[in-house]
Amino acid sequence: MTAFDSGANADFQFDLAHSPERAGSDSIKWRKYAGRDVIPMWVADMDFAAPQPILDALQARIAHGVFGYAHAWPALEAAVVEGIARDHAWQIRPEWLVWLPGMVSAFNVAVRACTRPGDGVFTATPIYPPFLGAPGNFDCRLLTAPLQRQGERWEWDWDATHAALADGARLFMLCNPHNPVGRVFGRDELERIAQLAEAHDLVICSDEIHCGLVLDETRPHLPIAALGPEVAKRTITLMAPSKTWNIPALYSAFAIIPDPALRARYRKAMDGIVPAVGVLGLIGTEVAYRDCAPWRSALLDTLRANARQVLDSINALPGLHTTPVEATYLAWIDCTGLMAARGISDPVRFFEEAGVGLSDGRDFGLPGFVRLNFGCPPERLAQALERMRRAVLG
Ligand SMILES: Cc1ncc(COP(=O)(O)O)c(C=O)c1O
Repeated sequence: MTAFDSGANADFQFDLAHSPERAGSDSIKWRKYAGRDVIPMWVADMDFAAPQPILDALQARIAHGVFGYAHAWPALEAAVVEGIARDHAWQIRPEWLVWLPGMVSAFNVAVRACTRPGDGVFTATPIYPPFLGAPGNFDCRLLTAPLQRQGERWEWDWDATHAALADGARLFMLCNPHNPVGRVFGRDELERIAQLAEAHDLVICSDEIHCGLVLDETRPHLPIAALGPEVAKRTITLMAPSKTWNIPALYSAFAIIPDPALRARYRKAMDGIVPAVGVLGLIGTEVAYRDCAPWRSALLDTLRANARQVLDSINALPGLHTTPVEATYLAWIDCTGLMAARGISDPVRFFEEAGVGLSDGRDFGLPGFVRLNFGCPPERLAQALERMRRAVLG
């Protein structure tokens, strides 16, 4: 056993020796630094191969040889329904599902379906950058309130949220678990959001793409629509197998919309614009939800160890600070102390020059922060953290 083996989950290997070489591949994440000695830790995909059952099913489907049009089939929808009941204790019905080729499309469709030009669309910042652009795509106004770090956790600013919503909001775009701050919002927070949605008569669009990646076992993911029928009625929940099982390029996602009228509005907003999910994505989704729970469990062991490595290493460095990641494989790092102490204006460039490629907090609405993707073999993470340590202390 190496120091990185995960004991009970040792059937699955997430170490460097078992990770495919991505340099020189089609990967956006790796191509950015082609020919440079920079470890890419930006775009949110992982450096691990997808689970073997998914690879086997895709290979069998390719061997069939015919790629005609396909639609989601009952066994696929049953796998999703059962997977969500098993993993998140939420009983949905197959007819609530609407399939889309990706989450960014899915939340843009939500804006299109639920607003008119000039309406307000709310989200809390910092946030995954396409949230910030979606309202403008439909001539809506982006309304924001900042999440705030209190001690070792990012928290809602309820007064600011309430004030922003009062400015003509029609849609509440929630990200839970949250990219980039890594929070899994608790029942109390979700109930508060549901109350605000009720008070302002809002639709909630809840992006739950990271719900399979909860690292803090004391904070299970709770879909906001699972709070009860009243909130479910006004909610569009978005999920996908893409982050958890590392198949984002298969472009398969789904909206869960219990209310028939809202579902019809949503489908109408897709008409003629949003293509169907490709058959390989549908197959990957069925197998992921049905057969890949053991792989996920082993992955989470690796990500938990990686998260600890990041927390310990970063918080040992002067001028940097990060908070415990409750979910996702993304660490949100405050560099403002380092920038002030060293006169650094661009922390992304500073760490790139040290050989580590991070995402810029500016794109998420919070300059002075960087996001580090630790969905990689522990050895590669250790090397990147060592480069950051040397750059900061050097
Ligand atoms: C919160 C969130 N939503 C959506 C996406 C992207 O989803 P897709 O690639 O299916 O459009 C990401 C990717 O990082 C994400 O973090």
